[in-house]
Amino acid sequence: MVYYCGNPIGTIAANDPSDSNTLNYDQVFIRDFVPSGIAFLLKGEYEIVKNFILHTLQLQSWEKTMDCHSPGQGLMPASFKVRTVPLDGDDSATEEVLDPDFGEAAIGRVAPVDSGLWWIILLRAYGKCTGDLSVQERIDVQTGIKMILKLCLADGFDMFPTLLVTDGSCMIDRRMGIHGHPLEIQALFYSALLCAREMLVPEDASDDLMRALNNRLVALSIHIREYYWIDMKKLNEIYRYKTEEYSFDAVNKFNIYPDQIPPWLVEWMPRKGGYLIGNLQPAHMDFRFFSLGNLWSIICSLATADQSHAILDLIEAKWSDLVAGMPLKICYPALEGQEWRIITGSDPKNTPWSYHNGGAWPTLLWQLTVACIKMNRPEIAENAIKVAEKHLSRDKWPEYYDTKGARFIGKQAHLFQTWSIAGYLVAKLLIENPSAANMLVNVEDAELLNAFSCALATPRGKRLRKRPKQSYLI
Ligand code: GLC
Repeated sequence: MVYYCGNPIGTIAANDPSDSNTLNYDQVFIRDFVPSGIAFLLKGEYEIVKNFILHTLQLQSWEKTMDCHSPGQGLMPASFKVRTVPLDGDDSATEEVLDPDFGEAAIGRVAPVDSGLWWIILLRAYGKCTGDLSVQERIDVQTGIKMILKLCLADGFDMFPTLLVTDGSCMIDRRMGIHGHPLEIQALFYSALLCAREMLVPEDASDDLMRALNNRLVALSIHIREYYWIDMKKLNEIYRYKTEEYSFDAVNKFNIYPDQIPPWLVEWMPRKGGYLIGNLQPAHMDFRFFSLGNLWSIICSLATADQSHAILDLIEAKWSDLVAGMPLKICYPALEGQEWRIITGSDPKNTPWSYHNGGAWPTLLWQLTVACIKMNRPEIAENAIKVAEKHLSRDKWPEYYDTKGARFIGKQAHLFQTWSIAGYLVAKLLIENPSAANMLVNVEDAELLNAFSCALATPRGKRLRKRPKQSYLI
């Protein structure tokens, strides 16, 4: 637990008493705190979550610079610590200050795009669980939500509604070839937009923001459901794609060459089941399966109900690859050989089947559990929890596991990793009390669904000449 002026405000990333090499694991990471925060909420320890929300909010408007450049205001830090410094002008006294890292100190100087999105998601969970809406209604909190949204909704050169980010901007915070439009960020973005929509207090000044938010939600769900989805049928379509289609009604809009379908996937894709791919760019589909993005797409209803079931079908069908000796693989499969060299930049921490490159992360158990509960299939999560229980506590709660079958404790894994413990706790508590998962779930919005089907009913590529009757611009 980390205290600031005597109050608990967060949990450190890892606390291994036998390891003096803490690097930055003695800090409070925003993304790592989420499962801790949910566990506290489930246990009725509300104060610490409130403290966390309000203190990290303050950090958002901190001045931040990377050399001479300042990133956008609404950026939340990846992590922060509490430092004790001598009081100005008085050598005998000290004071505590918060010391955030927005990426200016992080390895590779990666921007933590997910932090602000998680912050919004946790804020909504706090309100839902405690019934205390006074926190989200505070003016500074409302301003905080808007600052994050403005940063995400800012105009740019993008042709896609997905959020354009650099590599390593989320849980995978090292180079792993996930720059562009990675699924994890898109799922968290969609979820945060829905949560923010629920929490924003209506006022005249926020009309434009609301409109932008609604438009983005529709466009994002169309884009992900249509173009990120693959299953046997879609794969077969891609296999027979025509290319170089210049027109408004191209079928192969992103000019994907069928040869991109990787040989492993031809064998791996089950007849029943499917998933959302990792990333989509012009002439590029990243066919790797990324667990967090797929699970969170189920949780926030970015995936349709059919797609959500199909993702769980795939997890069941590919149990020995994805759950294996320890749930859950962060992605599948690993990059190997020349691909590993080029895409990770020969990263020795991300060697094949290690760490972010096909390693297994026990913390992902909680997201798996929420997704299974939402789809009314808790037995899948229960089975995964049983697998984790065989080793996790005995192995001292490692951060991650290595090898294809997740048989070894990760080479550089920290022990007593807080979110490994918290992820397990949340999974257990939610299985006992499944309705509590509602604080994290977003149900399919009827209004959005309507706008979505109207958009799909418009023939491909036909530009709308007149404004449609419904209020969304697509
Ligand atoms: C690693 C993970 C990151 C996490 C951090 C602290 O860098 O990739 O997601 O926040 O460790 O646990």
